[in-house]
Amino acid sequence: MITTSRLFRGLMAVVAAGLLAGCERPPIDTVQTGYRGTAMEQVYNPRLLAKEAALNAAPAALEPASNEGPRARDIYKNVQVLGDLSVGAFTRHMTSITQWVAPGEGCGYCHNLANLADDSKYTKVVARKMIQMTQAINSNWKTHVAETGVTCYTCHRGNNVPANVWYSPKDRNNANSLLGDTAGQNMGMKTVAYSSLPFDPFTPYLLGAQDIRVNGLEAMAQSGDKANRHSTKQAEHTFALMVHMSKSLGVNCTYCHNTRDIQSWERPQRTTSWYGIRMARELNNEHMVPLTATFPANRLGPKGDVAKVNCTTCHQGAYKPLYGAAMAKDHPELLSLAKPQAGLPAPLSEAMRSVLYFGVGASVLDTEQAKGLAQLIATMAATPTAKVAISGYHSASGDPAANQELAKARAMQVRDSLTAAGIAVDRVVLEKPMQAEANLAGEDPAARRVEAKIN
Ligand code: HEC
Ligand code: HEC
Ligand code: HEC
Ligand code: HEC
Repeated sequence: MITTSRLFRGLMAVVAAGLLAGCERPPIDTVQTGYRGTAMEQVYNPRLLAKEAALNAAPAALEPASNEGPRARDIYKNVQVLGDLSVGAFTRHMTSITQWVAPGEGCGYCHNLANLADDSKYTKVVARKMIQMTQAINSNWKTHVAETGVTCYTCHRGNNVPANVWYSPKDRNNANSLLGDTAGQNMGMKTVAYSSLPFDPFTPYLLGAQDIRVNGLEAMAQSGDKANRHSTKQAEHTFALMVHMSKSLGVNCTYCHNTRDIQSWERPQRTTSWYGIRMARELNNEHMVPLTATFPANRLGPKGDVAKVNCTTCHQGAYKPLYGAAMAKDHPELLSLAKPQAGLPAPLSEAMRSVLYFGVGASVLDTEQAKGLAQLIATMAATPTAKVAISGYHSASGDPAANQELAKARAMQVRDSLTAAGIAVDRVVLEKPMQAEANLAGEDPAARRVEAKIN
């Protein structure tokens, strides 16, 4: 007995020493940020800061490229966002994003190297949206990122997938059993610095828009308008978010709050954070969630949701990402939103005829184009004897044999959409057009189409 408990105590001592070595071992520095005696100070551990310095060093920018000469949109076939750049500036951008996101894999991480215009790799489709997301951060959220801004490197740091992303956790199965619903507490998860607080403060606040306040409007009011309606559970979720924010930035609560009066907005960092919360929420709802279907299953979370952004995705332990290094100014193409460029023509939707357009190399209809079948489907449903003929076309660029296959695959995709809408398959006839190549030269978006006609 004695030996076991001694052994146990010995073990605990070793574990404790290990834990201490991993965290706040002295000496510690403190910097006073408020009036003396008010405990408004930041605690830093110089040893941990030194370790983090390497992670937060920004890579050098490539030589600037001349913006003279022809535009990328005129030279290349499928440039939808960065078309206004010169070919030189466009190439510099491609080289930079390769270094930031796929230094090990190179251009082939996003590209089919046999045809750089092809959009068949999901990584390229995601990257195009990421360029727009980065532009949106830098132009719409100066209230948070100021002139410092962000680049792909802020989140990716040379990794395909940023080191810090979050997914919604699996549903808890114990809610109706004796174990009860723990609301994600006592799990000891990294997201809330291994505290006992609910480990997913992100779904309610960085995806949803729940109220983050916990204080009442008046001290001790128990009833009436001023009574505090926030529950203990809400307070715990708020605290979990606060622990996440402190941990992400490597700061204490006093960095943003005067702890004499938590509700006060006297610390400018609290206001910056208020915008940061709204920015993260918008990035998740408007940029990440719409990409869900683009990602392969192995990139999705336990509930099939896409990886999302929180404070750590950019900050990674620093009060400002990369200690405030202003990388974005060296990449003017990421500073403002690109002018929208002509995408696919709008689909034609008539009672007797539909025309639907496809992206370069694509044989799958996007949601907008798929809507173009509505009126034709209505006619087919109203006239049970009618048959519909479907023909696929391709543009003049690319390999002729592959293009023939593509035109056929497009026609079959439209046939499948019709049968999925309840039209019997024997009423749908695939018809090979006399001339599937629909334009004489180059990549004409109006050429990449399928026509469906009721005869
Ligand atoms: C992280 C993903 C990614 C990597 C890595 C990448 N690219 Fe791209 N590339 C894209 C995206 C996205 C576009 C489309 C941009 C647009 O629509 O504005 C594109 C377009 C292009 C085009 C235009 C092709 C056409 O005809 O439409 C060329 C050329 C190109 N990239 C070259 C390169 C080279 C060379 C490399 C390696 C040094 C590279 N890319 C690495 C994402 C990537
Ligand atoms: C605010 C943070 C953030 C910024 C800035 C950002 N990304 Fe991402 N990126 C993400 C997140 C989150 C994901 C989803 C992770 C995943 O792939 O599951 C992602 C995924 C990707 C992927 C898919 C990788 C894979 O293997 O699944 C590519 C490619 C990519 N980003 C390219 C870029 C490029 C290029 C830029 C700059 C123009 C950029 N990103 C800027 C957060 C960011
Ligand atoms: C990086 C800045 C930052 C840090 C660090 C931070 N907070 Fe906050 N805190 C905020 C912001 C911003 C809000 C208001 C959020 C909103 O309204 O959207 C807030 C709200 C709160 C509230 C609710 C106040 C109310 O009006 O009801 C409490 C309580 C709180 N924080 C406690 C803490 C504690 C405890 C810590 C340390 C563990 C902490 N905060 C760390 C920025 C921060
Ligand atoms: C898209 C990347 C990104 C995300 C996500 C992000 N930040 Fe920031 N944050 C930045 C950048 C860039 C700066 C530097 C701005 C500057 O130089 O003033 C910054 C600055 C700050 C500052 C000011 C620091 C100071 O000392 O002035 C605070 C506080 C802050 N962020 C809190 C947060 C919180 C809290 C979250 C999560 C709710 C968050 N940030 C999410 C990019 C981000």
